[in-house]
Amino acid sequence: MTNCKWPQVPEPYWQNDLEIPHFQSLQTDISTDVTIVGGGITGITAGYLLSLNGVKVTIIDAGRILSGTTGHTTAKITAQHGLIYDEIIQHFGVEQALMYYQSNDAARAFIKNTIQTLNINCNLEEHNAYIYTNTKSELKKLEKEAKAYEKLNITGKLVETTPLPLPMIKAILMEGQAQFHPLKYLLPLVQSIIDKGGNIFEHTTAVDVETGVSPKVITRNGRKITSKQIISCSHYPFYDAGGYYFTRMYAERSYVVAFKNKQPYPGGMYLSLDTPKRSVRSMNNLLLLGGESHKTGHGVNTMRHYEALATFGENILGVTDIEYRWSTQDLYTLDKVPYIGTITSNNKNIFIATGYRKWGMTNGTAAAMILCDLITKGGHPYEALFTPSRFKGDPSIKTFVQHNTDVTLQFIKGKIDIKNKHPKEVKKGEGAHVTINGKKCGAYRDDSGHLHIVDSSCTHLGCEVEWNEGEKSWDCPCHGSRFSINGNVIEGPADQPLKKVNENSTTL
Ligand code: FES
Repeated sequence: MTNCKWPQVPEPYWQNDLEIPHFQSLQTDISTDVTIVGGGITGITAGYLLSLNGVKVTIIDAGRILSGTTGHTTAKITAQHGLIYDEIIQHFGVEQALMYYQSNDAARAFIKNTIQTLNINCNLEEHNAYIYTNTKSELKKLEKEAKAYEKLNITGKLVETTPLPLPMIKAILMEGQAQFHPLKYLLPLVQSIIDKGGNIFEHTTAVDVETGVSPKVITRNGRKITSKQIISCSHYPFYDAGGYYFTRMYAERSYVVAFKNKQPYPGGMYLSLDTPKRSVRSMNNLLLLGGESHKTGHGVNTMRHYEALATFGENILGVTDIEYRWSTQDLYTLDKVPYIGTITSNNKNIFIATGYRKWGMTNGTAAAMILCDLITKGGHPYEALFTPSRFKGDPSIKTFVQHNTDVTLQFIKGKIDIKNKHPKEVKKGEGAHVTINGKKCGAYRDDSGHLHIVDSSCTHLGCEVEWNEGEKSWDCPCHGSRFSINGNVIEGPADQPLKKVNENSTTL
């Protein structure tokens, strides 16, 4: 048990003291050159790059721009994405592993150059990145990764100590990586898009596409945006096009706690190889500690994840004052390489970018660069590596079977699990499954005693949503959709809210 006190409400540090402009929702049918769905780092960077190339863009976001994963990141700008290079060499080959590294290193360089060009003050700092282990059995993996670095000419090596004294026997270092404030970086790009005649609409949810030479994005309120190309960069593609993305991606949640750091920070960005994973970086006088990943909807009591990070901060890093806490959601492809390119081989004018794991700053920027070239030049040297239509038997098939077996099990478990409470047993601030008129529902009692009741069958494919105590939301264990206490969609692939159950909640 930790002695740390933390903020009642999760709130990411990045949105603190920052004026993020508001944009209207779309109320009329419009035409544009490229429609971009999703206002995170990929959508904004793609919009910026396309605008620079004279392309008129329209960006829409279901909520506020920069408020999704981009607003909840740890904002490391690095090509050190865990131990990935040996694995990519094994499964794809040296050439493809080199492309993966180069695309992310190019993204790092692009961010740095853009900061210089636009003279952006966004706390950019260069740091070395480290993955460390304190377990002898994991050393072999570090050694293999070091060999992969050699093959790919990555500047890095094995080291026995790191500037921040963490419990470790060895670490692998990647030199010359960076960190920044992601929203301070992206806001001038937003302004540039507007200055070049681009449009941004918030609270505008894309729900479907009318395909054709000039495809149309259909919004929830029935408006249409006609364009030459569409980019979907809103996590799960809002339009699946028969790509069955929900069968070949899964969602994970992870947690960040920002401590007040009383000691001068010695530099470096850190990630543990051993589980539970820990990620450490600094920001001004804060120490950001991340980790505790789990599949969405599979966390037992999500507050325990914050507590585990707080305990690590207290015991290992000697920090106790927590200023912020927040969590985030990331999507994983089955072979760990993002999907960037046309949504299916038959839809040449609909593009997607997703599946960055936890490395959205560089993968998202690389995706924007690749998509801009695919649209303006008709090709990119790395498109074959990232194409969503790729098929690699190993390891995707095994992971595909595991993932979809798990989804089936979650579906069945949700339907037969009968640990429902009586509505009267749900305490203030608590969420639980209850039975209303013989039907399983989700109920949350707010501080005034009002019970918010929703049908707990996920509107995507019908799995039972689970209560997320830390974020006060209903999360689906199958493909990661999330819903508010009133059933509104927070994260897809579901695009319809949970049905509200109209019981007289004051008497329950
Ligand atoms: Fe697919 Fe809930 S997200 S069933």
